Amino acid sequence: MQINPHLFILPRTPGQIVWDYRNHKQFELNLEYSTRLAQLTDNPEAFDNNNIIDIQLLETGILTTSTQSTSEWGWDELSKIFHIGTKNIPCAYTPQNIHEWSRHYLDHCNDVLTSNAPASGLAQRAASELINLPAPSGLPADSLVDALVLRKTCRSFTGKAASLGDISTLLYLSLGYLKEREGDVDETVAEGLSARRSSPSGGGLNACEGFLHVQNVDGLAPGLYAYHPTDHALSFVNTLPAAPLGQLLCGQHFINNLPVGLFITARFDKLWWKYQHSRAYRMAYVEAGHISQTFQLVATALGLGTWLTGALTDDQVETLLGLEESAEQPLFFVGCGQSDGQVMCKELKALLNEGRPQ
Ligand SMILES: Cc1cc2nc3c(=O)[nH]c(=O)nc-3n(C[C@H](O)[C@H](O)[C@H](O)COP(=O)(O)O)c2cc1C
Repeated sequence: MQINPHLFILPRTPGQIVWDYRNHKQFELNLEYSTRLAQLTDNPEAFDNNNIIDIQLLETGILTTSTQSTSEWGWDELSKIFHIGTKNIPCAYTPQNIHEWSRHYLDHCNDVLTSNAPASGLAQRAASELINLPAPSGLPADSLVDALVLRKTCRSFTGKAASLGDISTLLYLSLGYLKEREGDVDETVAEGLSARRSSPSGGGLNACEGFLHVQNVDGLAPGLYAYHPTDHALSFVNTLPAAPLGQLLCGQHFINNLPVGLFITARFDKLWWKYQHSRAYRMAYVEAGHISQTFQLVATALGLGTWLTGALTDDQVETLLGLEESAEQPLFFVGCGQSDGQVMCKELKALLNEGRPQ
């Protein structure tokens, strides 16, 4: 007898939730069952065929007689639980052909739409608070191939101011709801889900948002701003903290003079509304990745160097953006500015050169 190796336990007074994350099953154990499970965890050989609790634990799969293969995941239990727990999602019904799929998908959409979409936090701002951005400009011809080839992670910036025109182009092409796509919407798309960005978006929800971190942009006071993709406008959120930018990014101080950056956030409330499974969490990062890459390609096409990180000092960033305890959470940071293109800052280079023969 052994304990199912794919369990985790959540204490929830008055019981314990035992979660079989591989088989997507949950059980609530009272004190008597929890105590017995603790005894059997200590010594699985104490299994007793005459004990009704033992039999039930076996029937539910909390205990098992079979040797279950465990993957060679490595040390990280949390990511393993999440990844395996969001694999092979049980599907009550799998469509067998394109007609069944169409009917099933439509039913799902109609079902979702019976509950209201989560309100937009950004939309609550009065129009008077919006700072309209100049019209975005185009990019140089043939810029895509050049941008793909030239994009690189730079870790040395000059600190020179970015122009508001470039910021406008960057935001519009990476996060804005494209005016150019407005006519191209299928009439079956639900109200409120027709906005389209340059990047694909899980379920068309546009669950990602952006907060601009401005240190040196011509015509824009330093601070943090929310980007409004419908209006192509900004609204002021906060002043910059006294500590340098590197402090918000887990001590990466080589980036302190970056003129402008973007915190990409995800609205989990929107994702949970349409997708009622933890697997949707994976999609939030995929979407943020698309936006980040587009931001970098546009910045590169504009002649700017780019840098990115997922190493956020989370609590400080959330406080700064006003997102503490919120269902909207910061996931990623991407920034740009004039750069000498160096991969390493000069301080790190100096250390590496120490001790090298001159
Ligand atoms: C998800 C992700 C996270 C990253 N995090 C950091 C980071 O915290 N700090 C950093 O300096 N670079 C970071 N990078 C940049 C990588 O180090 C860089 O992309 C890699 O060295 C390849 O260089 P290239 O971007 O110039 O092609 C990150 C890249 C990705 C895709």
